Amino acid sequence: MNPVSQTFNPIATSRGADVIARCQSLARYSEDPAALRRTFLSPPMRECHNAITEWLKPLAVVPSIDGAGNLRAVYPAASPDAPRLLIGSHLDTVPNAGAFDGPLGILLAVALLEQLEGQRLPFAIELVAFSEEEGIRFATPFIGSCALVGNYDEEFLNRRDGNGISIRQAIQNFGLDPAQLPAAQMSEDVLAYLEFHIEQGPVLENLNLPLAAVEAIVGQSRLAITFIGHSNHAGTTPMNARRDALAAAAEWMVAVESEASRIAGLVATVGSIQAHPGATNVIPGEVRLTLDVRHKSDQIRAQSVQRLSTMAQHIAAKRALSANFATFLNQPAVAMDPFLISQIELAIRAAGCPPHRMPSGAGHDAMILASRVPAAMIFVRSPGGISHDPTESVLLEDVACAIDCGSHLLKQLADSPEFLKRTPRG
Ligand code: GLV
Ligand code: MN
Ligand code: MN
Repeated sequence: MNPVSQTFNPIATSRGADVIARCQSLARYSEDPAALRRTFLSPPMRECHNAITEWLKPLAVVPSIDGAGNLRAVYPAASPDAPRLLIGSHLDTVPNAGAFDGPLGILLAVALLEQLEGQRLPFAIELVAFSEEEGIRFATPFIGSCALVGNYDEEFLNRRDGNGISIRQAIQNFGLDPAQLPAAQMSEDVLAYLEFHIEQGPVLENLNLPLAAVEAIVGQSRLAITFIGHSNHAGTTPMNARRDALAAAAEWMVAVESEASRIAGLVATVGSIQAHPGATNVIPGEVRLTLDVRHKSDQIRAQSVQRLSTMAQHIAAKRALSANFATFLNQPAVAMDPFLISQIELAIRAAGCPPHRMPSGAGHDAMILASRVPAAMIFVRSPGGISHDPTESVLLEDVACAIDCGSHLLKQLADSPEFLKRTPRG
């Protein structure tokens, strides 16, 4: 089958162009003037909500913002007591982000509603634009989707950002009421959650395929590590009398890289480092780092995190320093729903493309929703395998193919007694 046959669908291609233009227009709403950065309930989030509200107006669908800052909008079913299908992705970004990680899934969902042209299905479709997935502002990912599954507590809401503002306070500062968080939980009648997302890696490009069904999302650990030594004068302290926290951190970072290189499938990243006091002529007395470790096996991931922690203690002890570890995410690997995976493969085929199944190395809201409802994801090829970077992109023909595939999928699910008779999990 020719992987580019999807380019011949002119309606999907024109809607695809709209999706890309809308993603690019949301990318203008940023906390940084020169680069895209949009964290949990930052002011530009409101501009995104306003823009999406405008795009939904012709569909007569009026969104609301829940207690966690997620934009929610329900496209009604043929009958008022019908169950619902959730489709969504996230609006927040990493610093120096591209335009498509998150927003593509939201705008593809809007395009699928447009594509229905008023037709009602045996299920309602709830669009969810999650307020937070990346974990940038509070070092805590999935804030939006955790609210949908009720997975948060006082400690979670009291976590603070770099300015000492808690999650609870950020919700209030945005004009929302944390008392409304329980009402943000998804309703009991949700049949499934579906998410379109860019692949963020090179697999589909290497296979020359536009789309894939995600079979599982790998688990991830996120930690904060602090090496504590002693600051002293850079000119007068002999090399053998130093307790340099940055030198210890550097030694450990190289150990992290070798650990990940030696274990098949393991990825480990030190993505942020702060040295204190941070002056040219002062030996750094304290260094704070972050560690992100991922593997499809939860056991291999946990063992690696343990080894890296022990290595940090050894390196610190050898240099008369101490090392502290704090874990702020321990998210197990999650399988996607087998029935939905097979339906997605049928829909990809119906859109004129060979189907492919692959795991996701990136985390997604789908892994949180999967604890409550059957969840599935469709990946769209990432040119150059590039993501979390301003050069992140998509191809118009792939977005058109995703729309085509999504339309087929909705029709298949609407016609599937097996899907409609599934008892929603409470
Ligand atoms: C989300 O982008 C992640 O870090 O996996
Ligand atoms: Mn994402
Ligand atoms: Mn991301």
